[in-house]
Amino acid sequence: MIIRKAEIIISAVKKQQYPDTLVPEIAFAGKSNVGKSSMINALLNRRSLARTSSQPGKTQTLNFYNINDEFNFVDLPGYGYAKVSKSEQANWAAMIDSYLHGRQQLKEVILLVDIRHEPGKNDIQMYEWIKSFGFKGYIIAAKADKLSRSQQLKSIGLIKKNMQIKDSSLIYSFSSTSKLGLEEVWILLESILGLQN
Ligand code: GTP
Ligand code: MG
Repeated sequence: MIIRKAEIIISAVKKQQYPDTLVPEIAFAGKSNVGKSSMINALLNRRSLARTSSQPGKTQTLNFYNINDEFNFVDLPGYGYAKVSKSEQANWAAMIDSYLHGRQQLKEVILLVDIRHEPGKNDIQMYEWIKSFGFKGYIIAAKADKLSRSQQLKSIGLIKKNMQIKDSSLIYSFSSTSKLGLEEVWILLESILGLQN
């Protein structure tokens, strides 16, 4: 994929703020700090288009990015970090729910999980939620640079087992740091978007 243009369109917290673009969209979901914003930067070869942080809870809004005027990426706020009140959790869920419901342009929601850890209850819940909207349920096992190749394979096996994934083509290892998996993930994204570049 040749990136000619990559820019933020809007940070939205409610439906009225979603861009009225009609291009296909892909959203990235997952636990806080798993590396969603970093992945968007790595895919677009931009250092800091999407804001990242070593502290969980950096992305708090739905951030829409325009790529080449051809498609959008949507960086979703993460879940599952400690310092969140019940009302903030409810706000988060309402914000995601309103986006997942009836956004025609949204082609897939891709779930990132940390390749080093067995998926938690939150991850499994999020996965079920994503699939309940009819999405395929693609998983990115992120931060793959933290493990050796053999450990990566072992972890992928555990993730598949825990998330009850039978189809290996639904799961990809990825690292924003080493760019491992970049090509494979782009091939996937292009096919989801219906673009051939
Ligand atoms: P929230 O916005 O809080 O939901 O988090 P996020 O999922 O957007 O995570 P973010 O991209 O901000 O990354 C969190 C931390 O993980 C940062 O310190 C990143 O530098 C680091 N990180 C992200 N991706 C990778 C990776 O592939 N490898 C390594 N080693 N670190 C990574
Ligand atoms: Mg983020």
